[in-house]
Amino acid sequence: MKFFIDTANLDQIKEAQDLGVLDGVTTNPSLMAKEGITGAENILNHYKKICEVVEGDVSAEVIATDFDGMVKEGEALAALHPQIVVKLPMIADGVKACKYFSDKGIKTNVTLVFSAGQALLAAKAGATYVSPFLGRLDDISTDGLNLVDEIRIIYDNYGFQTQILAASIRNTMHVINCAKIGADVMTGPLSSITGLLKHPLTDSGLAKFLEDYNKGN
Ligand code: E4P
Repeated sequence: MKFFIDTANLDQIKEAQDLGVLDGVTTNPSLMAKEGITGAENILNHYKKICEVVEGDVSAEVIATDFDGMVKEGEALAALHPQIVVKLPMIADGVKACKYFSDKGIKTNVTLVFSAGQALLAAKAGATYVSPFLGRLDDISTDGLNLVDEIRIIYDNYGFQTQILAASIRNTMHVINCAKIGADVMTGPLSSITGLLKHPLTDSGLAKFLEDYNKGN
């Protein structure tokens, strides 16, 4: 299972990278705005900075909602750095743009996916990644994990190569449950990664080992 971090915060990206378990980064316009990164030029520069910190795929989202606009923006994003993955919304023109980019060998991430049917379309269009937003489904009292499960079954039935990128992860249990289902990738905040470290028995066990070692010294 690949671990992506879902942020545009360079310090958090570096922290996850330093832990040695980071495989990539996802961003979206809201995450950029949260870091105060606004304006096309600043956003493009920030993507380059992110690519310099991590070794894996970095999803960069288009703003256009029409096919021509998405192609123009996506080509500019892909030209920025070899690690860039063009992130496209799950709308009709996004599906068309996904097919366009996949035919050209440019990696894509189809985002804002909330149903198995949408995920099937993304795979048919040759998406590299499909991003079901499980946390946002949970927020409206729908089982987000069930969607990840459905997509896994459908993709396995037909051997689709599109990777399931479980997105909108909110906590460590989401990560564990997605791993049990067999999601290819998870993307979440830094806390969803570092939270996996924590167990009180690890802390108390280590404290006891150190205490006993020090008795003889
Ligand atoms: C991923 O690509 C999305 O940008 C992200 O996971 C959305 O998460 P949120 O629902 O916490 O905003």
